Amino acid sequence: MNNELRQSSARAHANIALIKYWGKRNGPLNLPAVGSISITLAELYTETQFSWTVSETDTAILNDEPDETGRISRFVDLIRRRADIDYSAAISSVNNFPTGAGLASSASGFAALTVAGCDAANLNLSARELSILARQGSGSAARSIDGGFVEMFRGVRADGEDAFATPLADADDWPLEVVVAITTRARKAIDSTTGMTDTATRSDFFEAWVANADGDLDAAREAIAACDFDALGALAERSCLKMHGLMLSTGNGLIYWSPATVATIHEIRKLRADGMPVYFTIDAGPQVKAICAPGYGEAVAEKLKTVPGVEAIQRTGLGPAARVIE
Ligand code: PMV
Repeated sequence: MNNELRQSSARAHANIALIKYWGKRNGPLNLPAVGSISITLAELYTETQFSWTVSETDTAILNDEPDETGRISRFVDLIRRRADIDYSAAISSVNNFPTGAGLASSASGFAALTVAGCDAANLNLSARELSILARQGSGSAARSIDGGFVEMFRGVRADGEDAFATPLADADDWPLEVVVAITTRARKAIDSTTGMTDTATRSDFFEAWVANADGDLDAAREAIAACDFDALGALAERSCLKMHGLMLSTGNGLIYWSPATVATIHEIRKLRADGMPVYFTIDAGPQVKAICAPGYGEAVAEKLKTVPGVEAIQRTGLGPAARVIE
């Protein structure tokens, strides 16, 4: 087989931000207006098979459904350009977590696509280069290239070469646990790119959000270095609530929460008042992610199962970097 017609498969894990990214300083390049800090999740991942073919067009099957948006093909153009390849791509990608459950799959999806596509193209890129590439598929995908605790830099350059993610600590250094409370399986009403644009142009609070981000990042980095669970949990909860406050303050008033989201928040705060080491974070959707100190995932899951409106629970620890698989 011609070397350029290689195929490859990769696995990349989902991540959730503890210090949130919301807002872009450049749309097409997906350059974030703020840095972010995330944890990579062991039990939620995407596996992607990537082959170069001589067919006329790209094909991308995501969880048994063809991608009609052209988003995958536009992303593969970046790999083609970089590797100087003009073959088409045949891509098949599967999430191991429930599709349509409102769990962010673009992060693990674009990270797996980046790793498989670059390997199939014989591009030997560093983790930083992979992260810069993955970012152009989805901002949060830049963080799924690495495992454990990860920081994404906002960067200042117009070309985005300084907007990449890098590991802060390994999963084993501080094995936090996460319980995801799924409160509705409906697809989110407003996608994150539309929501971010709306926020940047139509919220009075956007400048304050950007101005405060670096302080939160500094404090979270310190909390991770010291394995200070209460400090990190409090920062994560506050960053989440600030982001949702920002969303609520846009022109259209973006409300991603369901009644069960709010009920779960209150349950987590009650558990904490009773001595359980748990904090929440929520992305652009109704699911609640409970961040638990090591050893507390099971007890928290048992409690969150009983919250009215919680449809399912998924538990996970922290996971590894994206990688090529057999
Ligand atoms: O990368 P995107 O476009 O899926 O945006 C992610 C935005 C949030 O999930 C809400 C926050 C974050 O930092 O992951």
